[in-house]
Amino acid sequence: MNYARFLTATSAARKACVIRVVAGIMEKAPKSLIPLATGAPNPNTFPFKTAVITIEDGETIQLNEQMMKRALQYSQSAGIPELLSWLKQLQVNLHNPPTIHYPSSEGQMDICVTSGSQEGLCKVFEMIINPGDNILVNEPIYSGTIHALQPLGCNIINVASDEYGIIPNSLREILSKWKPEDSKNPEKNTPKFLYTVPNGNNPTGHSLTSNRKKEIYELARKYDFLIVEDDPYYFLQFNKPWEPTFLSIDVDGRVIRADSFSKVLSSGLRIGFITGPKFLIERLVLHTQVSTMHPSTFSQVLVSQLLHQWGQEGFLTHVERVTDFYRKQKDALLAAADKWLHGLAEWHVPTAGLFLWIKIKGIDDVRKLTEEKALKKEVLLVPGCGFYVDDSAPSPYFRASFSLASPEQMDVAFQRLAQLIKESL
Ligand SMILES: Cc1ncc(COP(=O)(O)O)c(C=O)c1O
Repeated sequence: MNYARFLTATSAARKACVIRVVAGIMEKAPKSLIPLATGAPNPNTFPFKTAVITIEDGETIQLNEQMMKRALQYSQSAGIPELLSWLKQLQVNLHNPPTIHYPSSEGQMDICVTSGSQEGLCKVFEMIINPGDNILVNEPIYSGTIHALQPLGCNIINVASDEYGIIPNSLREILSKWKPEDSKNPEKNTPKFLYTVPNGNNPTGHSLTSNRKKEIYELARKYDFLIVEDDPYYFLQFNKPWEPTFLSIDVDGRVIRADSFSKVLSSGLRIGFITGPKFLIERLVLHTQVSTMHPSTFSQVLVSQLLHQWGQEGFLTHVERVTDFYRKQKDALLAAADKWLHGLAEWHVPTAGLFLWIKIKGIDDVRKLTEEKALKKEVLLVPGCGFYVDDSAPSPYFRASFSLASPEQMDVAFQRLAQLIKESL
């Protein structure tokens, strides 16, 4: 892989920041090293001294004075080492990436921690996209991605998808306007990457099948583009076994995978991680050195302590409990939809994630219905138009989340909505 050809001039120009390098040395240094180098504040002056945090089953995470000093201090830009090594092992066990044993110059798998996956994705986009570049997505897509992409001035090409994710033939047809060798000629402007949410897509709840993934990956090889696999709902898959990921079939080192702990541990701690070829991960870390410097050390220490305490098995047992909760929530929302919206609307059963994507029959644009009328009746929904690059285009869809409302509230909400739909027809 010629990774350099994917970089913007800004990303290519990034260099290691000397202060951050010194901070890295400090973290690994023996106690005998005399620290005259860094601008790190003296943690003895910090007002927070110790912490005991109660977790599930009444167990606790204890941060003694020494750990607290570390948790409140600057740390390495890629993430704290003990969290990174835990995450690396997780990725190896879950995805068995072919690139794990590749030489570092040839796409070896690497990881960095980010302040939520959103921050990582935003940096990935800024690393790759120049104004006018072609990139591929499947609408409807997560609005956070649209708003990260649009200001970069890229040309966003929509690939058709259905309830099984991206349709490979649609991708094939789009790509057929180029020849495979065009990727070697920058003037041909071949797509630089395909972005997709493979499990429980936000907003549709749809998941991409593994057979389609294989076809799409072969097209990525043929036309030499990267795949950005944004997978925050991976741990919230309702069916077993979990689908193989793009990372697990990535023999070239062309997949950049974004994971998130937001949906299973905490969204406010802001811990996500990006897995991908070392060359590109290094560029992201250089960006972090001069932007956030590093994800919160406190958040990382807390998450790392929890994960080490639980072990991988304990983490996956927790994930199972969370998924069971959302499975019941999903079933409750579907029951309410069957009861009140039958004949008025259409939907597919979500396979992962937090969302039900509903099409109202006979109404071309549900913006007014959801944004004004439903809100007046105290039901909060997101109109579908917000998940399209052209958000002014009418959409008969809306997104309902089954995360926070109780089954009783879901029932009341869809009863009110059904009434509003009937009045609007
Ligand atoms: C598809 C998708 N990507 C990324 C994110 C950002 O997640 P995080 O909290 O890890 O930044 C979200 C959040 O809802 C999402 O739905």
